[in-house]
Amino acid sequence: MINLINIDKSYKVGNEKITIFSQYNLMIKDGEKVLISGPSGSGKSTLLNIMSTIDTCDSGDIIFGDINISKCSKKMTSDLRLNNFGFIFQSYHLIKTLNVHDNILLPIIAAGKEIDNNYIDELINKLGISERLNHFPYQLSGGEQQRVAIARAMVNKPNIIFADEPTGNLDRNNSKYVMEALIDLCESQGTTLIMVTHDLSLSSYFDRVVSIDKEKEA
Ligand SMILES: Nc1ncnc2c1ncn2[C@@H]1O[C@H](COP(=O)(O)OP(=O)(O)OP(=O)(O)O)[C@@H](O)[C@H]1O
Ligand SMILES: [Mg+2]
Repeated sequence: MINLINIDKSYKVGNEKITIFSQYNLMIKDGEKVLISGPSGSGKSTLLNIMSTIDTCDSGDIIFGDINISKCSKKMTSDLRLNNFGFIFQSYHLIKTLNVHDNILLPIIAAGKEIDNNYIDELINKLGISERLNHFPYQLSGGEQQRVAIARAMVNKPNIIFADEPTGNLDRNNSKYVMEALIDLCESQGTTLIMVTHDLSLSSYFDRVVSIDKEKEA
């Protein structure tokens, strides 16, 4: 479970204070698939970044299981990200100088964990990238790069996947392929999926849609 309690977040631009969240609350259960929607600039990425410890809030608590993330040291949040969270971004963020195989294994090596070859085989087969393991990111299409990024995000068997517009650069067919693979993997692993998108046609893949503007007005 991840629970946001009375979150405040604002930015200072010059002398002006821009409030993005004021006393904002959100609870997401284990294994839930939640889509976060809202207009551009409404704070979707900010919310995802606060929840996933990439960004901090001004006040409020973020509770993950029995840990109060907002009170954790930097070392604790970085361990939490490595071991419990997986990330997928619009622009893939693969390491250009590493082949597909090494990109996927990177989080395992960083965490010093043992490699579970059966699980990795399952991931690459489900994502349809088994023929691509020796290729470098520049040799892959956008859809293929995103499938590699999903394998990398899932490799440490995270509790939560945070995805910010993961289909934003993909055409309709690739978007469908990526979404189906992501949902299938999350369901088979019991992984919570928290995903930001503009594309409300993807809502049928999710248990719940959180509309930021609506929540803010409530
Ligand atoms: N570092 C910053 N300094 C000042 N303002 C910021 C900063 N980061 C974000 N903002 C502002 O906060 C608001 C929310 O930004 P955010 O990126 O979360 O929106 P978003 O809903 O993800 O938008 P998009 O759909 O375009 O990605 C925007 O008005 C943005 O300009
Ligand atoms: Mg955004």
